[in-house]
Amino acid sequence: MPYNYCVVVTFCMLVAACGERNEPSLATSAEPPYQAITTIQDTMAWILDPAADVIWSSAGTIITAQGHQELAPTTDEDWAEVLHAAATLTEAGNLLMMPGRAAGDDWIEYAQGLTAAGQLAIKAAQDQDDEALFEAGGRLYQVCRACHNQYWIEAEGGDQRDDGYDENENENENDQGHSTR
Ligand code: HEC
Repeated sequence: MPYNYCVVVTFCMLVAACGERNEPSLATSAEPPYQAITTIQDTMAWILDPAADVIWSSAGTIITAQGHQELAPTTDEDWAEVLHAAATLTEAGNLLMMPGRAAGDDWIEYAQGLTAAGQLAIKAAQDQDDEALFEAGGRLYQVCRACHNQYWIEAEGGDQRDDGYDENENENENDQGHSTR
């Protein structure tokens, strides 16, 4: 159909012309239709926090009344669960960078840090390497904390923050091992 062909050619030329002179407007018109559905609180509570808990409860050692207990996964199923949580956290970095969620330049950097830590955890899970998982858990913890320190504006009336990581819980060595770095 010559008419359609003509339209397509004209459109391509327009796009090419725009592309040369004005890249940003081209990028804007090609923007995928992102929809941020969950609030930041719910993104944290429903996506990041449960996934991070899986990682943190699978790495390091806890001290119980019975003595030291290694938390590292021992079965393929448990490692697969860690892998899935790690993938969730890795992609959650992208979720946090979505238009409407990013709150500043440092925010983007923290979101990328989340993805980087998540990738370490993915690798650790694939290798079933408990030491690497412990390291990744520590990196993760630092990223959560760094972003919270800067962007979590506390409600009036004191520190009500509960980011899902209880420092007193179980004397988790994951915390102790990384707090000085
Ligand atoms: C890029 C920034 C950023 C990163 C990275 C981040 N958070 Fe958050 N988080 C926030 C902000 C901002 C809030 C406060 C939201 C509010 O109350 O307005 C928050 C709040 C929370 C909350 C409280 C949610 C609620 O119910 O009010 C939890 C839990 C949480 N984060 C867990 C985590 C964990 C776990 C990680 C790391 C795996 C993490 N966050 C990484 C920005 C971040």
